[in-house]
Amino acid sequence: MKKLTFILFCLAFGLFSQSYAEPVKLQSPDGQLEVKFEVRDGVPYYSLDRAEKPIVLPSKMGFTLEWRDDLAHAFVLKDTKYSTFDETWEPVWGEEAQIRNHYNEMLVILEQPIGSVESMDHSTEKKATVMQIRFRLYDDGLGFRYEFPIENALVCFWIKEELTEFAMAGDHTAWWIPGDLDTQEYNYTESRLSQIRNLWEAGHKDGGWPWTAFSPTGVQTALQMKTDDGLYLNIHEAATLDFPTIHLDLDDKNMVFHAFLCPDATGYKGRIQAPCVTPWRTVMVCTSATDVLASRLILNLNEPCALEDVSWIHPVKYMGVWWEMISGKSTWAYTNDFPSVKLGQTDYEHAKPNGTHGANNANVRRYIDFAAANGFDGLLIEGWNIGWEDWYGKQKEFVFDFLTPYPDFDLPALNKYAHEKGIRLIMHHESSASTVNYERWMEKAYTLMNQYGYDAVKGGYVGTIIPFGEGHYSQPINNHYHYAIVEAAKHHIMVNSHEAVRPTGLCRTWPNMIGNESAMGTEFRERINPGHTTILPFTRLQGGPMDYTPGIFETDMGKIVPWGKKMKTTICNQLGLYVTFYSPLQMAADFPEHYEPFMDAFQFIKDVAVDWDKSLYLEAEPGAYIVTARHPKLSTLNKAAEGVGTLVDGKKGVVSNATKFVYALPEDATTEDLKKAQAHDVWYVGGITDENAREVEVKLDFLKPGTKYEATIYCDAKDASGIPDEHYNAQAYTITKKKVTNKSKLKVRMAPCGGFAVSLRSL
Ligand code: NOJ
Ligand code: CA
Repeated sequence: MKKLTFILFCLAFGLFSQSYAEPVKLQSPDGQLEVKFEVRDGVPYYSLDRAEKPIVLPSKMGFTLEWRDDLAHAFVLKDTKYSTFDETWEPVWGEEAQIRNHYNEMLVILEQPIGSVESMDHSTEKKATVMQIRFRLYDDGLGFRYEFPIENALVCFWIKEELTEFAMAGDHTAWWIPGDLDTQEYNYTESRLSQIRNLWEAGHKDGGWPWTAFSPTGVQTALQMKTDDGLYLNIHEAATLDFPTIHLDLDDKNMVFHAFLCPDATGYKGRIQAPCVTPWRTVMVCTSATDVLASRLILNLNEPCALEDVSWIHPVKYMGVWWEMISGKSTWAYTNDFPSVKLGQTDYEHAKPNGTHGANNANVRRYIDFAAANGFDGLLIEGWNIGWEDWYGKQKEFVFDFLTPYPDFDLPALNKYAHEKGIRLIMHHESSASTVNYERWMEKAYTLMNQYGYDAVKGGYVGTIIPFGEGHYSQPINNHYHYAIVEAAKHHIMVNSHEAVRPTGLCRTWPNMIGNESAMGTEFRERINPGHTTILPFTRLQGGPMDYTPGIFETDMGKIVPWGKKMKTTICNQLGLYVTFYSPLQMAADFPEHYEPFMDAFQFIKDVAVDWDKSLYLEAEPGAYIVTARHPKLSTLNKAAEGVGTLVDGKKGVVSNATKFVYALPEDATTEDLKKAQAHDVWYVGGITDENAREVEVKLDFLKPGTKYEATIYCDAKDASGIPDEHYNAQAYTITKKKVTNKSKLKVRMAPCGGFAVSLRSL
């Protein structure tokens, strides 16, 4: 009956001829990419071509809804508006000082006319249902989003599913992790799209906890693919706010990805209120792997910085009382007395210390001393607060208060000690995935941080989300992560969340999001596959920096605990990560005593910058290798040169430690010292490889012409290997110095699972 009414309606208004109209088109600024949009029989479709070759074949768009007719049919194209945009903006921190945002835009205005659908519009003045789709086409890819203006029959609605498709034009090679509603901590699988189904189960076993699958062909974004003719395609999303995360469900007969939104506890996939926009769905198209690494598509699709004052946001290089717990040497918990903790009732003052608590006063002071002596900004301390005895897997709602230190952690005294040495302690808020409890305590917890001058917090969401039934990436929980960022900004606190939703470029708008984990990081130790770190910059890092926590020098975990195994890495592979992985928050994760025998190699970690004005991606292939060169941001240096200022505790010191790292200046560096250092030009180069040894030739043609530089080259030794067999030799490296110019080429060999690092300093 509904269908018949619709046909009569269309005949009456002559709409059929319009629905078969020529597609509307949009080209990228360089004319290579083209999007076509059309409405066929009332259904919206888009497609994407590059140089007339199909990238995305005609793919459906829309939503199914609760209570009313879907946004899936009966559409007419009312209007199309075109515009173009070209601006250059400056990120607060980043891989380069300036980013060009250049696109052509097409806005298509679609209507389900009054009477054509059951719209549940009970107002006296009936309105049409309006859905707009905004396409932005860049030289390196496409973004599109749905928009719902207020002039609409559709004001508040519930999404059952997003109908967006991405119809692939071939059985591409993909680097994928299984689709999951609770974890992103997976090793990648490289396979053809058609093999995902067969490999999915094995891939799913190779991950973190808890896991919640939704389809035997479900995968997560950012999904990196390569076509047989050498194009690099990447599907992701940008600016995910007040919306669930998108996964991709592959119809492997037709090679069509269907959007799968992460449901909330009631099964809905977004409760929407107009006026509003959805996140951008993105398809990157690049002719080389290095262009994917250079793409700023995701950042560009996000809104400009929302904060007026960003002077308190700064890059951070840090150490931590952390690897001790991850490796099994120490514990977060203070005592073994309590099988069950009830905060407010459990008596910690009279509990017997277990002797393995890592966050104790003496140990923290030892780390502060080492971090300060080596020019670090911060020190993370986990296990400082009560509640760790039963924090894990118990589904406790009231698990931490984020305020009360253990008896052997003297918060005021340790902060004073740290500040006197130019170190800021980094707060740790593990929520144990009890978001309700964290929100309850958040204001007090951030206020405590302000009181003691902590300006960065590491958050955590291990376990089953509370409220029960929610997954880690549903709309309400994505809103929680965002709430934590916005509230932190009010307190001038920078945030690094672990296990939170993978980022979608929101750090452009909220630059206090200086880190995130949201992927398998170093904490997975020996489980990490060779080549894992050569994939992450193509996938997870497209949305923003990752707190990967590199810098492991004692790579044989069996030396720390009997059950430990060898990590598939070498010291030089670890050094290479500081350049190939971008993050304004970089950790040197190992113990001081593991660095002490290798202080000559540790020098690279001390020197390398964490904020850049230029990044060059020299060579790359996902799953195989990456070689990157970066130039430190001099504005950071200038800021610091004037920025000998006042620290929280009233002492004078160099405020921006990022500068110190560029030039490895001592703690008591004066403005004069900084100016002298500024006279030198500095570059850093890093490389990493998978299980295959590789020789690379690095052309130094990016150096200033006519200038001599000293290159310090940290290289795997000839017999080095990160493969955990009888030839394992992860700590064998050489350090050589050479005079070079922009005409020089450096030949370096990376061992299996190895890497290299170079610092270049003009003479
Ligand atoms: C998991 C995080 O990724 C890790 O860094 C942290 O130490 C533990 N949770 C405890 O919070
Ligand atoms: Ca984690």
